Amino acid sequence: MLAVILFLLSSFCIDHTYQDRSIAQLTDFGYVFSPLDNTITPFLQLTQKSILRCHTECNKRISCRIFDFDQDTGNCQLWSDDLTTGMISFVGSLKPRSKVGIIQITSDIYRSIHDKSCDKCLYSRYEQCDPILMTCQCPSKTFWNGNICAPQRYTNQSCTTIDSCRGDLRLECKDVDCNSIQKCSNQTNGSGVTVAGFCNATVGSGPEGLSGPWGLYVTSNNTLYVNDYDTGRVQAYSSMSRSGITIAKLSTVLDDIFVDTRGYVYIIAVNMGTIFISPQNITLPISITYPCTLSSIYKPYGIAVDKDGNIYISDYMCHAVTKWAPNATTSIIVGGQLNVAGSNSQLLNGPKFIALDEIHSTLYVVDYNNHRVQKFILGGNGIGITVAGGNGLGTGLNQLNYPAGVCASLKDQSIYIGDQNNHRVMKWKMNATQGSIIAGSTGVSGSTALLLNTPGDVALDPSEAFIYVADYANHRVQRFLL
Ligand SMILES: *[C@@H]1O[C@H](CO)[C@@H](O)[C@H](O)[C@H]1NC(C)=O
Ligand SMILES: *[C@@H]1O[C@H](CO)[C@@H](O)[C@H](O)[C@H]1NC(C)=O
Ligand SMILES: *[C@@H]1O[C@H](CO)[C@@H](O)[C@H](O)[C@H]1NC(C)=O
Ligand SMILES: *[C@@H]1O[C@H](CO)[C@@H](O)[C@H](O)[C@H]1NC(C)=O
Ligand SMILES: *[C@@H]1O[C@H](CO)[C@@H](O)[C@H](O)[C@H]1NC(C)=O
Ligand SMILES: *[C@@H]1O[C@H](CO)[C@@H](O)[C@H](O)[C@H]1NC(C)=O
Ligand SMILES: *[C@@H]1O[C@H](CO)[C@@H](O)[C@H](O)[C@H]1NC(C)=O
Ligand SMILES: *[C@@H]1O[C@H](CO)[C@@H](O)[C@H](O)[C@H]1NC(C)=O
Repeated sequence: MLAVILFLLSSFCIDHTYQDRSIAQLTDFGYVFSPLDNTITPFLQLTQKSILRCHTECNKRISCRIFDFDQDTGNCQLWSDDLTTGMISFVGSLKPRSKVGIIQITSDIYRSIHDKSCDKCLYSRYEQCDPILMTCQCPSKTFWNGNICAPQRYTNQSCTTIDSCRGDLRLECKDVDCNSIQKCSNQTNGSGVTVAGFCNATVGSGPEGLSGPWGLYVTSNNTLYVNDYDTGRVQAYSSMSRSGITIAKLSTVLDDIFVDTRGYVYIIAVNMGTIFISPQNITLPISITYPCTLSSIYKPYGIAVDKDGNIYISDYMCHAVTKWAPNATTSIIVGGQLNVAGSNSQLLNGPKFIALDEIHSTLYVVDYNNHRVQKFILGGNGIGITVAGGNGLGTGLNQLNYPAGVCASLKDQSIYIGDQNNHRVMKWKMNATQGSIIAGSTGVSGSTALLLNTPGDVALDPSEAFIYVADYANHRVQRFLL
């Protein structure tokens, strides 16, 4: 039987040539490394003169975690796995002069770089600059486990975070049997995983049940917030948990929800005309009148808040999107014209959910009764550009049928739309003339993993690998791998 190595002998370090130096611990002679997934090969194999040179090659590469070197053949193998995704085996007489080197990775390596500004990891072999967030983040095929960037896991390995499985191998961390046991499992194309609400798509209450999820928000730490339209409950689910905590309960129906960087949760109570902010337990002091004025709202629907605390509100009945500076009592128009419904580029007809992309100074607005999504440039001239739909109500790939929710990729400015009455989620790439179906099936409502029934809001996870869909009439929130 092959035994896992127990004794790590010498350790040494090498000066950095390319990135900061790494320290490796070496096994005794007679050991090799093998990943738990036996289809995985080393990411690089070279011939080297010594183990020191093999370590130097490993040190040059950000993805190298383990190397093994056979002195008899000079074969130097570099692996991106570690002891959670692979094991060291004794092969004795087979390779008597083979050793394994393990790069020592501890949390203090990451303390000064993780989530810090990009200059901190310019020459780091441990993290990379994320071009969107402009902070140091884990390189591909690894995930942040709270302490270090650890290799993503293989099939059937247990997992605890959304990004802890090898996405490039189409693996996804999921609770396959709906028993709260998360494992890395094959992703089925177009198949949703229930992340909130009962897995059997029935009405529920309590921590695991939902009545009618409608507005969604996902924070940078993967906490999912859900407005349960019918019950007025606002539920928060920490990453990978189907057990929700009620953070607010209003005695009215709820539409959009937004969580700012301070953790303030903005909840729209459309029929009361108010915006409730948790945990402050206050409502925004905006007056409620119809027709709307620059100092009032009437049927607020979508909400977004920027880094400076400016609040954007779409008003379904007043046909405009307004911007409110912090504590302001008067707003400015971002899109549409107050109290005028229409379908030209300056007008809106029943705006619903909105999505803010501060990086590209863009606000996307679902123009419900025009079956289109309009894009407005912040600080621009108020002229809307149609970025999805706009070809009348219909089932074509270039059409929408009462769209409700919208979210946008910060990476490539693609937008995703909850196409409510078509029971599907569409993706429209930038400048596209038609969309593609991401989830659901056009015109077919149902409660299987492949179908949706009256989808509302949609939200991307921070890595943009997944989309969450409020599957309203199935009383559940579904997650799909993109
Ligand atoms: C994963 O687990 C399932 C169920 O226990 C088993 O049938 C399957 O063979 C395992 N797959 C791998 C790759 O280990
Ligand atoms: C998972 O996907 C792999 C590769 O596509 C395939 O070989 C394997 O049979 C699948 N496993 C299951 C349980 O479907
Ligand atoms: C998923 O299925 C759809 C429809 O069958 C197909 O168009 C798409 O290419 C598939 N995607 C992948 C990644 O297999
Ligand atoms: C659906 O699932 C919930 C939660 O597990 C359970 O309480 C309920 O009885 C199930 N309903 C049906 C019809 O199976
Ligand atoms: C995640 O973020 C939310 C909102 O910012 C915060 O309330 C919550 O405590 C955070 N959760 C964790 C586990 O850090
Ligand atoms: C808001 O209300 C909740 C529940 O009633 C309470 O626990 C919390 O302390 C309140 N927060 C503030 C800031 O008053
Ligand atoms: C808004 O009002 C609050 C409470 O009165 C105050 O603390 C805050 O500084 C004000 N913000 C601005 C930008 O004026
Ligand atoms: C979209 O169109 C704009 C304006 O023509 C152009 O600048 C941009 O590069 C295009 N983007 C893509 C992804 O096609």
